[in-house]
Amino acid sequence: MSKNVRKPFVAGNWKMNGSMSLVADFNEKLASVSAQADIVICSPATLLHGFNNSTFSIGAQNVSHLDNGAHTGELSVEMLKEAGCEYAIVGHSERREDQGESNTLVAQKAKKCVSEGITPIICVGESLDVREAGNVESFVAAQLDAVVEALSVEELSKTVVAYEPIWAIGTGKTASPQQAQEVHEFIRGYFEKVDADLAQGIRILYGGSVKPDNAETLFAQKDVDGGLIGGASLKAEDFISICQAAD
Ligand code: PGA
Repeated sequence: MSKNVRKPFVAGNWKMNGSMSLVADFNEKLASVSAQADIVICSPATLLHGFNNSTFSIGAQNVSHLDNGAHTGELSVEMLKEAGCEYAIVGHSERREDQGESNTLVAQKAKKCVSEGITPIICVGESLDVREAGNVESFVAAQLDAVVEALSVEELSKTVVAYEPIWAIGTGKTASPQQAQEVHEFIRGYFEKVDADLAQGIRILYGGSVKPDNAETLFAQKDVDGGLIGGASLKAEDFISICQAAD
């Protein structure tokens, strides 16, 4: 299977940003967009109910690994599904850092999503210190190990992976297309050792300061199947041109 068989994928991560007027703007401006990519907007949970556009799917930025119950402040997969989510980001570096989410917890969240029918977008990626120490591959491999231990090959095939180097997130410092491709190739090679079909089918997104003017070169890399977009997903025009760059 070549890259052509993997459908491009672009997800916007609004983080703790946005409003109902931004939702309305996206509903309107994305309505007429024709893009080949699967397009997803992961907005704050409070805005999910406002989307009414069939051009794109909606997703959450986090999800609990637990069933409904006494877990104040958490949202279950069941709830997110009822709110229309088909996807959930798990293990974003901001949550790994701010909420202390471990590799094991991220894997449990991914498992819960797959077993209840939503697609997890599993984020991995290293800090600048790790990169400078030459440990990118072992760091990313440890993040993936936890996921591979928890999910079967069939379950893994229902996930999307996002490689997001922390030093490139929100900094304007994008990984060069070569730097991105190197790690994406490593990740695909990692899955190759688990299962060859899985490796060829799984979509690996790049995230970290993707903008309209760098998206096309990044997405053109052999193992880059699309992007997870933060800042540039908050402006409909920019997001649309990034989605079109994935074609
Ligand atoms: P950024 O964020 O595009 O603003 O760098 C990406 C992300 O954190 O998903």
